[in-house]
Amino acid sequence: MNILMIILRIVHIFSGVLWVGAAFFNVMFVQPSVRASGADGQKVSQYMVQKTRLTSYVYGTATLNILAGLAMYYILSGFRLSFLRSGYGLVLTIGALAGLISWALVIFMVRDIFGRMGAIGKLIQSQGGPPTPEQASELQALGVRLTSLGNYGLFFMAIAVLGMSAARYVSF
Ligand code: HEM
Repeated sequence: MNILMIILRIVHIFSGVLWVGAAFFNVMFVQPSVRASGADGQKVSQYMVQKTRLTSYVYGTATLNILAGLAMYYILSGFRLSFLRSGYGLVLTIGALAGLISWALVIFMVRDIFGRMGAIGKLIQSQGGPPTPEQASELQALGVRLTSLGNYGLFFMAIAVLGMSAARYVSF
């Protein structure tokens, strides 16, 4: 019994489900509802970013997924190029690269947007009134950018899930 691989797989798959599931739910349902609800929607967005653990949840699950994935990838392939000569190695690697791209999108770009949203939210709170028109339009622009990055993210996540699920049954 390979306890290390079992633990890595559990961590990898569990965190992947939590991360990718939340991403699909956010981009497909939460963001459109926030956009359709105008100023009220912006309040919900601000609350999610500032007062809940959403950001730590996303960074945490995404990073756990990648670390456990890299560890298993190293154990299985030793990072040798010859791994790519099998169908399993090639399809798994395509999935892994897509997973790494979606992780990079989250950590380097989505994080910036959440940070900016949080900063504007704090400013609005300290003003003690509704957002100024500039703040409202910046929040809206950030929301649009978040959705477009989210769509790219979902695309790469879908490739990662497809590659990971199919790899072990592709043989050549
Ligand atoms: C969106 C990101 C990802 C998701 C949702 C995901 C999901 C999965 C799933 C569901 C499995 C189980 C497949 C099976 O049992 O046949 C798996 C296995 C695996 N994943 Fe990922 N993965 C992601 C990213 C990554 C990354 C970035 C790497 C490596 C750099 C990686 C490396 C692996 C490895 C080595 C396995 C084990 C395959 C085996 O035991 O045969 N994954 N992944």
